[in-house]
Amino acid sequence: MTPAMQNKEVLMQVRDFSLLYKTRLGPLSAVDHVTFDLYKGEIIGLVGESGCGKSTLGKALLRMAPPQAELTGQILFRGEDILQFDDRRLRDFRGRCVSMIFQDPMTSLNPVQRVDQHLVEAIQVHEPQTPAQAALERARSLIGRLGIQERRLRDYPHQLSGGMRQRAMLAMTLLPEPELVIADEPTTALDVTIQAQIFELLLKVRGGDTAVLLITHDIYLAEACADRLWLVYHGRARQYDGDLEDYRKLVAAADRPADEGEKQVAAAAVHTEAKPKPSKSLILLVTNSVTPWCRRV
Ligand SMILES: Nc1ncnc2c1ncn2[C@@H]1O[C@H](COP(=O)(O)OP(=O)(O)OP(=O)(O)O)[C@@H](O)[C@H]1O
Ligand SMILES: [Mg+2]
Repeated sequence: MTPAMQNKEVLMQVRDFSLLYKTRLGPLSAVDHVTFDLYKGEIIGLVGESGCGKSTLGKALLRMAPPQAELTGQILFRGEDILQFDDRRLRDFRGRCVSMIFQDPMTSLNPVQRVDQHLVEAIQVHEPQTPAQAALERARSLIGRLGIQERRLRDYPHQLSGGMRQRAMLAMTLLPEPELVIADEPTTALDVTIQAQIFELLLKVRGGDTAVLLITHDIYLAEACADRLWLVYHGRARQYDGDLEDYRKLVAAADRPADEGEKQVAAAAVHTEAKPKPSKSLILLVTNSVTPWCRRV
């Protein structure tokens, strides 16, 4: 924990959390005994190679694992274990407490609904007492700040450009004023300039108390924006207060399953305090890397 974190309010506590996918080839460990805290208002970057379990972990924070997955441990939101929520509590929790921007906006937008309908619905699903007109007014003030012209509110998703769709998704995510936004590579399908713009927008228009978990391959983007970075690598969860270069070396070497010796090297590397970064506490969330180093248990 950095000194800056000491006075912060804890939002989420993940305790010894594991997730196994049951597949035709047997159980597949995607998240392995992960423990961490997440604080109100902070920006966390979750970085790691493809297939290491970033999206699985992100979705688990919203309890969005498929039914065939086996979840163990605890995910506490303000002290309540979300793994124990009933359907009603879960509906209220998703969107209002924690919300997610997915990799592909088209999967989250209804092709036969106009943008304004999406935005009004995003508010009314949690606040059914808010009249449509009032919800639309709230949406209007936000979309202006997101750079969507008002006339685009009458468009269908297919009439928008990729960047515009992501902005519409951002608006839907932020309108219920969630306490945590999980952005899972919100810009993968877009070009580099738009990627940076969208992420900047998210940080600019979120309320200061809204925490953001940014899931990305782009270690530089995450490092530039985040208060803390979680770096994902295979093995077990450990804290990391070293230099990013150590992590890059680990990832570069990871073209096959880590053997016990390498895991020990990785463990030693994550404990090194030779080059601490004064401004950032880097937390290495070491999960099992599954593709192509998939570990079946
Ligand atoms: N529903 C599922 N059923 C079975 N296995 C799954 C399922 N979803 C993901 N996996 C596997 O779990 C592992 C982790 O996947 P995940 O999508 O979390 O990785 P990721 O780090 O987000 O990768 P990327 O950077 O490519 O998005 C992968 O091996 C993937 O094939
Ligand atoms: Mg992913």
